[in-house]
Amino acid sequence: MDHPIRTPERQAFYDRIGPANLAPLWEREVRPFLMQSGSLITAQEATRRVLMLMNPGLGGQASITGSLFAGLQLIMPGEIAPAHRHTQSALRFIIEGHGAYTAVDGERTAMEPGDFVITPSWTWHDHGNDTPEPMVWLDGLDIQIVNLLNASFAEGYPDDTQPISRPEGDSFARYGNNLLPVDWKPEVKTSPVFNYPYARTREALAALAENGAPDPYHGHKLRYVNPASGEFAMPTIATFVQLLPAGFASLPYRMTDGTVFVCVEGEGETRVGDTVLSWEPHDIFVVPSWASHTHHAAKEAVLFSFSDRAVQEKLGLWREARGNA
Ligand SMILES: [Fe+2]
Repeated sequence: MDHPIRTPERQAFYDRIGPANLAPLWEREVRPFLMQSGSLITAQEATRRVLMLMNPGLGGQASITGSLFAGLQLIMPGEIAPAHRHTQSALRFIIEGHGAYTAVDGERTAMEPGDFVITPSWTWHDHGNDTPEPMVWLDGLDIQIVNLLNASFAEGYPDDTQPISRPEGDSFARYGNNLLPVDWKPEVKTSPVFNYPYARTREALAALAENGAPDPYHGHKLRYVNPASGEFAMPTIATFVQLLPAGFASLPYRMTDGTVFVCVEGEGETRVGDTVLSWEPHDIFVVPSWASHTHHAAKEAVLFSFSDRAVQEKLGLWREARGNA
């Protein structure tokens, strides 16, 4: 694939977005830049039109934590992000737009805000937007982990889109209902459910909130699982969702997995040491490894999060501390 041309207009744009590395607020700071990028370069030319979220604490590396990459991807109406595959695993957490699709291994899924979509390692994937609205999602990838292990491979597909061999919803019907096809054996370590729809997740959270008191450190917190193994849904990236009741304040907690949070609903703040991170829907923030923090919900809130805990647990490295101990 040819590298996209760096025009003066594009260079000026890249210079303008530099300072936004520090911006916590989506609507005021990040979204306008992402939309400007939409008129400067096509998804086709860029292969993936992504603004990387650079962690200013990590000295200019293309990473959001020490081990993970995050970026905001935009697909404009009528665009296709062409098919390719790579050994890096990717998650998509949908921020804005309705009904654009991701295709994975012969099946398309329409995406809605709050959906958690996986493109497993070495699976063909392409994205397309047949809707009249721009579609934006947060990409999370295990790029640094794969690089550390020198296990990086990538390949372009000969066409823009891959052939579709299964109807939409087929994976969810087979694997997403607490049932599995009787003779099925998993061949890979990633969950066979590649879209965890927010509608279902939200229902579960609502029931938990109704049925009992929140955990003092996490509120009502769930992890996304691979139904074939009970492990995290992805082998390298752990993903979570939690509901914080209105007025809830969590007790101090820290863990070794630096974690990327996305506010899905509600309003509140997370205090990390002396730093106060205020959030509202679409805001993205990071709690670093082993940093004691508390969450405070002004309104009932839902936070999605992801980290490298899946790797740390396998290596016996993960630890947590509850309270000020
Ligand atoms: Fe990709």
